[in-house]
Amino acid sequence: MPAGSDVLADILAIKGDLEYGEYLASECTTCHRHDGTSEEIPGIVGWQAKDFAAAMSAYKSKSRAHPVMQMVAGRLGNEEIAALAAFFESLGR
Ligand code: HEC
Repeated sequence: MPAGSDVLADILAIKGDLEYGEYLASECTTCHRHDGTSEEIPGIVGWQAKDFAAAMSAYKSKSRAHPVMQMVAGRLGNEEIAALAAFFESLGR
């Protein structure tokens, strides 16, 4: 089993709180712009919550390399990641 997959299963079992996600997202949107126009930073709006949670848990478990995102994800608990995943997914609808 790849590292971090238990964490991912836990995150996916949580129903993300949209309002909490919106509150937490202000930290993310300084880099990840709402309109996805930045060239260096990938857009994260409208992702499926499960893909979003998979990317975040990969950074958190350090199976995906990137110092900034590892630090960002490392500070977030499962509840926070679930909330963010639900919020960013809702923006894409
Ligand atoms: C200081 C700037 C910065 C902040 C703040 C930041 N990110 Fe990122 N994020 C990046 C960069 C740069 C990448 C591309 C990293 C890579 O190549 O793996 C990235 C990648 C990602 C990815 C994967 C995108 C993809 O296309 O695979 C997700 C999901 C993500 N960030 C979510 C978040 C969330 C959620 C937050 C807030 C809790 C956040 N980021 C805060 C800079 C930032």
